[in-house]
Amino acid sequence: MVILCILLAFFQALSIASIAAAAIVSGQSHTGIEGSFSLSVAETYHQSKGFVRDWAAARQKWGKGVPKDVATAFSLLDSNGRVDVEPLGSDDIFIANIEIGNPPQAVKIALDTGSSDLWLQSSDTTYFYNRKGPWAPRYHPNMSRTSNILKDAEWNVKYMDGTAANGIVYLDTIRLGGFEIHNATIQSALVVASRFERETGLSGIMGLAKSLPSSIAPPSKTFLDLLRPQLQSPVFTADLRLNATGRFDFGRINGTVALDNMTWLNTTPESDHWDVGLNLMSWEGSNWWLHDFTATVDTGTTLTFLPDVLARMYWSDVPGMRVDTQLSDAFTFPCDGADRLPDLRFKLPGTEHVLNIPGPYLNYGPIAGDDTYCWGGMQSADDLESTIIGGTVLKSLFVAFDLETKRVGFANKRL
Ligand SMILES: *[C@@H]1O[C@H](CO)[C@@H](O)[C@H](O)[C@H]1NC(C)=O
Ligand SMILES: *[C@@H]1O[C@H](CO)[C@@H](O)[C@H](O)[C@H]1NC(C)=O
Ligand SMILES: *[C@@H]1O[C@H](CO)[C@@H](O)[C@H](O)[C@H]1NC(C)=O
Ligand SMILES: *[C@@H]1O[C@H](CO)[C@@H](O)[C@H](O)[C@H]1NC(C)=O
Ligand SMILES: *[C@@H]1O[C@H](CO)[C@@H](O)[C@H](O)[C@H]1NC(C)=O
Repeated sequence: MVILCILLAFFQALSIASIAAAAIVSGQSHTGIEGSFSLSVAETYHQSKGFVRDWAAARQKWGKGVPKDVATAFSLLDSNGRVDVEPLGSDDIFIANIEIGNPPQAVKIALDTGSSDLWLQSSDTTYFYNRKGPWAPRYHPNMSRTSNILKDAEWNVKYMDGTAANGIVYLDTIRLGGFEIHNATIQSALVVASRFERETGLSGIMGLAKSLPSSIAPPSKTFLDLLRPQLQSPVFTADLRLNATGRFDFGRINGTVALDNMTWLNTTPESDHWDVGLNLMSWEGSNWWLHDFTATVDTGTTLTFLPDVLARMYWSDVPGMRVDTQLSDAFTFPCDGADRLPDLRFKLPGTEHVLNIPGPYLNYGPIAGDDTYCWGGMQSADDLESTIIGGTVLKSLFVAFDLETKRVGFANKRL
């Protein structure tokens, strides 16, 4: 099988005791509040948004890969015959500027609540498809006087076709919105997926998953593990925005944008992800539908994937809706009806708290080659291993992640 899958897997463990536990954080935020900081996140905007690539990226991350016939029909194969997706659907991903090393080097990272590695392109990266650049801003460990290579530590990105890309690990300073973390573990990529080589706006990824271990061997603390003891309050919040700059806050909940009180939901204890149980959904003009499901809150997935029966009923209520039979029955609709898409609603379990997702947020944008029809930003989770609350829904909500109680809080917000 020549299917590429961005699965982070362990390298064989080497016998080294726990390292990197010695990170020190000096908590000075630019807003002057001890133990907290904010990061602005801008949505990358591409001329031609790639629904099919975003769809494929979600299937690679959360599902069973991309069917061969789809990969062929939509030209998703690279010159080596591997499925060539943006590992994080970089068409529509939320990127923050952070700094690494001393003197500081500016890089661009995506904040991803669905993974746990903090990795970057660097002067160690070998480029195979874009040998001459331009590349995204990269980390140059040799140019930082505080970088130390973590001896014998490795990380590994495994592809389904059997090839593996690996990287090495440094300890160095990370600076986020005025907050400094010394000796943080930074995974430096030796090889990256081919599309990353041409993506100049994204240096790497900062994983913020609930409790998923990073892929570093021997095991090492994740970025959140290092950060948490230094935060005033063990929380972070995501305020993603449609086509505008959003914000992640760490260490405090600033509810200024919220329209109602936050409702906290427990996450599934046995899952390493931010998985919450939902059960009541409706949309403008429909009843409440009782259907239990567990959804992963993932800022690193552009689209939202709901249980098939619910997604199907919603789109059946949209005049002119068509399924794209070539792409696993993905839902499409006439673009001129985008402003009239029904608002989607979730009633949070055990409460009367209703989250409202404006219908137009569920418009992903026109189909390439037929701009009278648009892709739905919410699709069926058939074939995925989880349902995913991704960017299209999160942009209309204020969401908080509690690192201690492992709960996720939701509120509506000013849009
Ligand atoms: C960077 O450091 C490594 C190992 O410390 C060394 O092998 C390499 O030549 C250095 N590269 C540059 C460009 O200085
Ligand atoms: C970072 O780690 C290095 C090597 O382990 C150590 O010499 C240095 O003192 C540490 N720096 C801080 C600020 O903890
Ligand atoms: C988003 O911003 C881009 C660039 O400013 C603009 O062309 C586009 O129409 C905007 N899209 C929406 C949905 O507002
Ligand atoms: C809270 O957020 C608002 C904007 O949403 C900002 O103006 C205000 O300064 C923030 N408060 C603190 C304490 O950071
Ligand atoms: C939030 O909760 C407080 C205290 O329970 C209550 O006084 C207030 O009215 C609530 N606000 C909203 C918008 O529901």
